Amino acid sequence: MAGLLAPAVTEFAIEVTRGLTKPGQKLLSPRYFYDDLGSALFEAITFLPEYGLTRADERLLKAYSGAIAERAGKVRIIAELGSGSGRKTGSLLAAIEDRDTATYYPIDVSPSALSACAKQLQELVRVQPVCSDWMDGLASITRTREPGQRMLLLFLGSSIGNIERTKVARFLSQLRRQLVPGDYFLLGADLVQDVDVMLAAYNDPTGVTAAFNLNLLGRINRELGGEFNLRLFQHEARWNPDTRAIEMHLVSSSKQDVYIGGLERAVHFEVGESIWTEASHKFLPDELDRFASESGFTPVQRWVDAEWPFAEALWEVRDTAS
Ligand code: AVJ
Repeated sequence: MAGLLAPAVTEFAIEVTRGLTKPGQKLLSPRYFYDDLGSALFEAITFLPEYGLTRADERLLKAYSGAIAERAGKVRIIAELGSGSGRKTGSLLAAIEDRDTATYYPIDVSPSALSACAKQLQELVRVQPVCSDWMDGLASITRTREPGQRMLLLFLGSSIGNIERTKVARFLSQLRRQLVPGDYFLLGADLVQDVDVMLAAYNDPTGVTAAFNLNLLGRINRELGGEFNLRLFQHEARWNPDTRAIEMHLVSSSKQDVYIGGLERAVHFEVGESIWTEASHKFLPDELDRFASESGFTPVQRWVDAEWPFAEALWEVRDTAS
């Protein structure tokens, strides 16, 4: 059966097998949330009154796109990691100097999010969608760029929060190696705030976040022939003060064995046993500057939203020779 699966599905199958059969805490990677349904559910999350993060990001981009564009100057390439629908990015693109000679490269794993993004933004700038994960997508853009074409790389919406804190500097260094001195990097990061407010953002009473989380099991059913009964799992959000992260879990409400046809195996769950599906790390403002200097960037400026503690940080690529 596994031989019949497409390569991308095989990778998913390997991750699911590893995550659900390992001893101790079962886990799945949040990168698999974003199939077309998952991307649509995330888009819905961004409209929830409890999820202030995206609106804070949008407000900052709207208020400071002029300052950002002025500092970045004549950029030829604007690339965005995990663009989603690209709703946030419009005001920034509109402010770019000589934008008729620039190209915007949204990088995302969801084809439907990418086409919505292209449709929304192609009136502003030439859009070249890249359907890929972050690093491969960025590498494909930097491979073909010509010398002297300055890049502005965007990593918005606190997507960085999904990376383990101890691995953030390594990840950013990897990005840095794709860039050259003179390039700019704009990072959106959600900040630590009141625990109840943070928890509510990941446990909305409408149940959209629960649906987003449960869709991971739905995706295993659809793509790997899983037999998960989604009604036998409960969405849960927890604050972990040690890692400063909101963790999402799917908790089994009964003792059960779930067969996954594509993996030719069953997975056992005890009552109350969970699958850990996401960590959304929250940041302290000074921590962001530290990340910059640890990974080959120079912090230029940082803006924080007045309503929802969220930071937009503009960094310049440091010349490692100097
Ligand atoms: C897209 C990773 C920034 O962590 O807040 C939203 C995803 N998870 N609600 C986040 C998410 C649950 C989101 N990021």
